[in-house]
Amino acid sequence: MIKTVEQLAHLAQGLRAKREIRSFLKAEERAVKFEYGIKDEVWSWYGGMVCEYDATFARILDAFNLYSFRHILAERAKKGLSTYVLDLMGGDASFLRDLKYPANKQDNPSPFNAGLCVTLVDGRQKRLQELDQRLNIEVLCGDLTSKRTWALIDEKQREMGIDAFDLIVCRGADGVKEDMIPRALYPFLFGKIWGRLSGNDGLFLTQLPETIRPRELLGQLRLIPEIRLNFQPSRYRPAEVYPSLGIIKTSAAPENL
Ligand SMILES: C[S@@+](CC[C@H](N)C(=O)[O-])C[C@H]1O[C@@H](n2cnc3c(N)ncnc32)[C@H](O)[C@@H]1O
Repeated sequence: MIKTVEQLAHLAQGLRAKREIRSFLKAEERAVKFEYGIKDEVWSWYGGMVCEYDATFARILDAFNLYSFRHILAERAKKGLSTYVLDLMGGDASFLRDLKYPANKQDNPSPFNAGLCVTLVDGRQKRLQELDQRLNIEVLCGDLTSKRTWALIDEKQREMGIDAFDLIVCRGADGVKEDMIPRALYPFLFGKIWGRLSGNDGLFLTQLPETIRPRELLGQLRLIPEIRLNFQPSRYRPAEVYPSLGIIKTSAAPENL
């Protein structure tokens, strides 16, 4: 089959990205095996807690009048709604653990029902794995650019009895850079994420690479009817060095893209 120049360029980008992801995966595996500590050896950010996720998405949460992750959970609990959370590029699931089980339980009267973290390597010690089992938190290892990983996510959702996620978040930092996730993959990734996001005001929050062209991306996203959209450019603050995007899927929005 004859391919166009653009198709060939996308293919080459895709192959380069796979190579890049493989090298990060190997570095993470080495760090886990020899207990170097992933944060210093592989990623400059790792194991982010709720306050760090709040800081990264603060401007979007404020724009949607949602304020913080704990506020979202508390408001849902007040309405008697259950909450399922998916953390993409979630590291060692520290965010989910903290969201479910903070040091001061008084601050968290309404933890979520179940959480799934998807990451390249599961860096948790046995103690944390056992704690997560009790907290209904699962960690799945896989590369998000691969169809196989999404099939595994489907399988895991079925196992956990989760039809859709009320909150999907991706604070991947360098993991979202274009040499790891080429722009040509966005339709595939957005489609996969959208299909799993609850149509009952499900919220998707993600970091984007600095190289993103907001006009182009937002122009495409605005074609989806009945969504709420917020984009924030990067800022010179440690938590906000990447642009970020928030989307709310209302009940009138299409179920799938
Ligand atoms: C910089 S760390 C961020 C961890 C966590 N979200 C936080 O904010 O502390 C990036 C994480 O994304 C994961 N990751 C990077 N690329 C990925 C990919 N293509 N598929 C799945 N996970 C990926 C890595 O395994 C790593 O755990």
